[in-house]
Amino acid sequence: MDKINVLFVCLGNICRSPLAEGILLQLLEEKGLIDKISVDSAGTANYHIGERPDPRTIENAHKNGVTLPSRGRQFDRSDFENFDYIIPMDESNLFHIRRLEPSTPVTGYTIVKMRKFDPLAENADVPDPYYSGPKGFQDVFDILNRSNTNFLNFLIEKHNF
Ligand code: 4NP
Repeated sequence: MDKINVLFVCLGNICRSPLAEGILLQLLEEKGLIDKISVDSAGTANYHIGERPDPRTIENAHKNGVTLPSRGRQFDRSDFENFDYIIPMDESNLFHIRRLEPSTPVTGYTIVKMRKFDPLAENADVPDPYYSGPKGFQDVFDILNRSNTNFLNFLIEKHNF
């Protein structure tokens, strides 16, 4: 079976989506599924292309035992062809992704907001921590950890891993 390709999307690609990527990679390692699912992240904006994640995100991730391999890149139209699951963090990211969608989709990608998989607040936004303090970053970590755990269970069931 081909690999399932997952892309997390936020605004800057330096806080939320690189953390979502790092957490899912860690869960895949723990479950022995790293060969089945590939993970990437992107931003709808071009502010931080080529950059490592925000130092506060890296610090929070390390505190929680997660490493972040990401370099900032911007979401573009080719992502609709290359990914099976496109996962925006909030309603604004979703809006910007939808604006770039091909008028005649060529592949069967699925776009679904991250917190669709959060049992505590289904379909809410993942808050942008950029202007927050350490608690904001930890809240985002907890949301993404919870949502990714459920997202991975969904993938395991749906694709018979
Ligand atoms: P992210 O957070 O979308 O979770 O990466 C942000 C990062 C940078 C900016 C805004 C949000 N910015 O305005 O530079």
